[in-house]
Amino acid sequence: MLSRDRKKNETELTRLISAEKLPGHVAIIMDGNGRWARKRGLPRIAGHRAGINTLKEVITCSYELGISIVTLYAFSTENWKRPRWEVEFLMSLPGEYLHKELQSLIEKNIIIKTMGNLEQLPEVTQRAINNALEATRDNSGMILNFALNYGGRNEILNAVRKIAARVKEGSLKTEEISEDLFAGYLDTGGLPDPDLLIRPSGELRISNFLLWQLAYTELWFTRILWPDFKKEHFLKAILDYQERERRFGGINKL
Ligand code: FPP
Repeated sequence: MLSRDRKKNETELTRLISAEKLPGHVAIIMDGNGRWARKRGLPRIAGHRAGINTLKEVITCSYELGISIVTLYAFSTENWKRPRWEVEFLMSLPGEYLHKELQSLIEKNIIIKTMGNLEQLPEVTQRAINNALEATRDNSGMILNFALNYGGRNEILNAVRKIAARVKEGSLKTEEISEDLFAGYLDTGGLPDPDLLIRPSGELRISNFLLWQLAYTELWFTRILWPDFKKEHFLKAILDYQERERRFGGINKL
C-alpha cells in the first residue's frame, strides 16, 4: 500500500474507534520475527531489528489513543533454548532500544515497568533497564511493561513460594488467600488484567504468557508477522475488541 493510502486508511480506522471503549490494558506477543527474516533470505537478527520498528509504532499509537497499559512479551523463560548468538543479540536489544528511545518515552510521561526474573539477564542489560525504571518512576502516564525472562508458570510458582513462606512464618492464614491477594504476589501486582491480547504470526496459543491474568482477556490473532504488523493492524484489533460483548461468565441484560 502506498504510504499516502496507508495514512488515509489509518485516519479512517482511528475515526471509528470509540474513546469510551478503549481497552485499558493491551498485551502483545511479538512473534514472527524469524520467519519474516527467513522469507527475505536475511539472518534472524534482521527480523528482531525490524520488530523493534513495529514496537515503536505500536507504542506511539497506544500513546496517541490514550491506552493506559501496554505489556510486551520480549523474552520468555523458554527463549534461553535458542542459539547463543541469538540470545546474546536479544539481550542487547533492550539497551539499544532504551539508549535511543528513553528520552522520548520520558517526554511522553511514560512509566517503564518490567515482569520476569531480571537478575538472570546480563549485567549490562540489567543496568540499562534499571536506569529506565529509575528515570520514569515518577512519571504518571502510560505504563509500558516489558516481560523479560518471563514465564507465566514460573511467575505463579514464585507467588506460591512467597505466600507459602508467609503461611509458614504465621503472618498469613490459608483462609486469607484470596484471588486478590494471590494476584498481588504476581509480577503484575497492582496492574489490572489485560483487556486485549494480540498475537501476530498465525500461532494460536498463549505460550506461557500471563497465564493467570488472561482469564477473561479478549484474544486477537492475525497471520501477519510482527515486523509487518503496522498501526493499521493495531487499530483493527482495537476495533474488533470494541465489537465484543464481555460477559465475564455472567449474562448481559436481555
Ligand atoms: C519472537 O519471534 C520474538 C522474540 C523472541 C523477541 C521479540 C523481541 C523484540 C521484537 C524486541 C524486544 C525489544 C525490547 C526493547 C525489549 P521469533 O523469533 O520466535 O519468530 P519466529 O517464530 O518466526 O522464529
